[in-house]
Amino acid sequence: MEQKDIYILGIESSCDDTSAAVLKNGILLSNVTASQAVHEAYGGVVPELASRAHLQNIIPVVDQAIQRAGIQREQLTAIAFTRGPGLMGSLLVGVNFAKGLARSLGIPLIDVNHLQGHVLAHFIRESEDDHSNPPFPFICLLVSGGNSQIIKVNAYNDMQILGQTIDDAAGEAIDKCSKVMGLGYPGGPIIDKLARCGNPDAFQFAKPNIAGYDYSFSGLKTSFLYSLRDWIKDDPDFIEHHKEDLAASLEKTIVDILMKKLRQAVKDTGINHVAVAGGVSANNGLRNAFHDHAKRFGWNIYIPKFSYTTDNAAMIGIVGYFKYQDKEFCEIDAPAFARMEN
Ligand code: KG4
Repeated sequence: MEQKDIYILGIESSCDDTSAAVLKNGILLSNVTASQAVHEAYGGVVPELASRAHLQNIIPVVDQAIQRAGIQREQLTAIAFTRGPGLMGSLLVGVNFAKGLARSLGIPLIDVNHLQGHVLAHFIRESEDDHSNPPFPFICLLVSGGNSQIIKVNAYNDMQILGQTIDDAAGEAIDKCSKVMGLGYPGGPIIDKLARCGNPDAFQFAKPNIAGYDYSFSGLKTSFLYSLRDWIKDDPDFIEHHKEDLAASLEKTIVDILMKKLRQAVKDTGINHVAVAGGVSANNGLRNAFHDHAKRFGWNIYIPKFSYTTDNAAMIGIVGYFKYQDKEFCEIDAPAFARMEN
């Protein structure tokens, strides 16, 4: 008997991107994302504004994803949605929309952990002959605005956190330092661009001394702030005169901190398939460091396409596809969760 095609709709609304994607038998057909420019003026995401923007965006974004996939919504097999972690007001929009649509179509709901989505973004396939995913087990450096973790990924549903930040995340540190420099939000892409024209060895900032595989970025942030304050005393236009060098030195410090612990984890586990995921994996300095480690240490590296580094629904859809195959569905009353421990 011929197998029925499996169409998964993925929905992501955990922070400030409203995204929907459709996958057919695990292959991506469409991925539509509406980002929220409204936060730029505030130098960070304003939760209440994010929820309102999700409410405005969710119907057109889902509609477009289904249209671009070239299917009718009645053909959907299941709906996968980000259940958490994230901003509660933002999550509620996607969670409740997914529940309403699944109920109206009489199809199963699949809850997805946002972080699992970032890690499994490596399994998003755009065509049948795309087999660029890492084999299990692999080590994944997950670096975003809210997380910095080293994860041992044993299977799609079996992940062990080896280390994580004890304070700020890498992306958060970049964003905060960029704010101190008076640059826009989010700071990551701006620092990345400036860093390409700067000298990474121009300035030194504090690096943490933490045991094991854990990270810390709050000391670096303070060191950056205090150093700037001192330099500005002598030259009020210090930032303007040195912004490329500041960006390059900050980026190098963060990349060095990230790679040092990652090298240790790879060495200790003996697993040399190494992936990077999350918004900060778009960073050119970090990507170069991965290529450099591949050459120096023989790592097999896995770097996602730019469009799958930041929040997107394709990564939620692919987790949904895996869970669908294992018939791992969730109940209609499954609540959203803002934090991991909830
Ligand atoms: O994964 P993501 O989109 O959202 C979550 O935090 O879940 O990550 C956003 C973070 C922000 O801190 C942003 O500044 C950072 O990723 N980012 C970058 C770059 N693009 C985005 N950081 C460094 N270089 C980039 N090119």
